[in-house]
Amino acid sequence: MALLEPQVSALPPFAQKFVSQSKQLFIDGKFVDAVSGKTFPVFNPATGDVLVHVAEGDVADVDLAVKAARRAFESGPWRSMSPSERSRLLYKLADKMEEHAEELATLESLDNGKPISVARVADVPMSIDNLRYMAGWATKITGETYTIPGDFHSYSRREPIGVVGQIIPWNFPLLMFIWKIGPALAAGCTIVMKPAEQTPLSATLMAELIAEVGFPAGVFNLIQGYGETTGARIAAHPDIDKVAFTGSTEVGKMIVKAATGNLKKVTLELGGKSPNIIFADADIDAAIAGAAGAIFFNSGQVCTAGSRLFVERSVFDRVTQGVAAAAKAMTVGAGLDQRTEIGPLVSDEQLNRVTGYIDSGISEGARALSGGVRKGDKGYFVEPTVLVDTKPDMKIMREEIFGPVVAATPFDSADDILKTANDTVYGLAAGVWTTNVSKAHTIAAGLRAGTVWVNTYNTFDPSLPFGGFRQSGWGRENGKNVLDCYTETKSVVIKL
Ligand code: NAI
Ligand code: MG
Repeated sequence: MALLEPQVSALPPFAQKFVSQSKQLFIDGKFVDAVSGKTFPVFNPATGDVLVHVAEGDVADVDLAVKAARRAFESGPWRSMSPSERSRLLYKLADKMEEHAEELATLESLDNGKPISVARVADVPMSIDNLRYMAGWATKITGETYTIPGDFHSYSRREPIGVVGQIIPWNFPLLMFIWKIGPALAAGCTIVMKPAEQTPLSATLMAELIAEVGFPAGVFNLIQGYGETTGARIAAHPDIDKVAFTGSTEVGKMIVKAATGNLKKVTLELGGKSPNIIFADADIDAAIAGAAGAIFFNSGQVCTAGSRLFVERSVFDRVTQGVAAAAKAMTVGAGLDQRTEIGPLVSDEQLNRVTGYIDSGISEGARALSGGVRKGDKGYFVEPTVLVDTKPDMKIMREEIFGPVVAATPFDSADDILKTANDTVYGLAAGVWTTNVSKAHTIAAGLRAGTVWVNTYNTFDPSLPFGGFRQSGWGRENGKNVLDCYTETKSVVIKL
């Protein structure tokens, strides 16, 4: 498990230039400083050094953005544009992203810490693909006609919900940005977007691309800033019609409370504690690689991370040793280093949180087969960790760790495992590894989770509805389902 030296001086020229000036907000089609003139620092997770300063939005900036978004929604050219014109703008934006793909990947890696090799093949192309998928939906949002008794003609219209506030996290800054703006713009909404304060950079570049493509002023507004100020104002704002949030379950509950003032619509994509279940009849080598990928991808900072690993007892040692061997073989390093397979965590706060969980697990009797500690003393690196000797009531078995830490437990029967796997307040995702078809379907049906992967993990597509059961969220993203979350349905009844 080599730790590469951070190569900060070797920022690519584009990144060097990008971070050389402080970054602004984007309101009503213009790049502007915060009303207060304040900025906040953004850190390089590979070194802990300040990378750049970003305009720090607050209540006044959100209010300006909402005004612009309201005007653009009610009276701007956006409202009178045909769906195909909206669709064309989204396709154009996707093309622009393709032109700037390497820049987007570079910023994503620099800002979040994720390996650039991953940002290039996952974050950026998946974002472009998602935007194109949603661009296609702009022209396919339709109502229905209804036959009711009497001389009436009745039909429904699907109308954009209005001004939407979107608050996103730092683990997939670009992808979450696209998952949010794609359906909102396809549906004809206008947007006030707040990225996570840890990772504001790719959104800033996206605002530049949005401006270049020619979306009407006010359709998309970008407010950077902290959650407690900017985020809270978005959630509570009386003139925002809907808020879409991705982040912690804790903040999700605060969003719901803040939204009660004007009963804005709320969709939430929250945390998880997803079970990954390996049966003895599985292709064990594939399951080992799959279990390692399920937890170590993006340094475990994935809402769907397979963080509870359940393995049928006869193959438990082989599987856990295999995942630990995979962990030990991973090259840990700065995101921008081409050799890096696993990057740092995003922040000092997450470093403390994740190592705190590891320590709590070990003090409660768990044993680390690999990792278990911070790596190096600079940057936010944690060794990929496999914990065994777990008990169901340990914190590491119940709470979302959001780091490269898997808690493994053996099981004896297919009947028990469903009960154990479902013993969580979350319900975002789950994995099942077996070659027995009926077992695969039975377990998939019995799992209380929004996505179940069989003999694969973290396989996403823009067409697949994604979201959580229980405290993992409200509503669905992606697929045609997400459009329901950005439209209101109106019934029209006409007496003939
Ligand atoms: P967080 O939920 O505080 O942050 C997510 C977003 O919400 C950020 O844009 C943040 O500025 C904003 N926010 C924070 N407080 C807010 C408030 N009062 N009102 C409105 N917006 C607010 O997540 P944080 O603190 O960065 O990470 C803590 C834990 O949350 C992680 O360890 C992980 O367990 C979980 N998490 C889950 C994510 C997911 O994809 N489901 C993503 C990020 C974090
Ligand atoms: Mg927080």
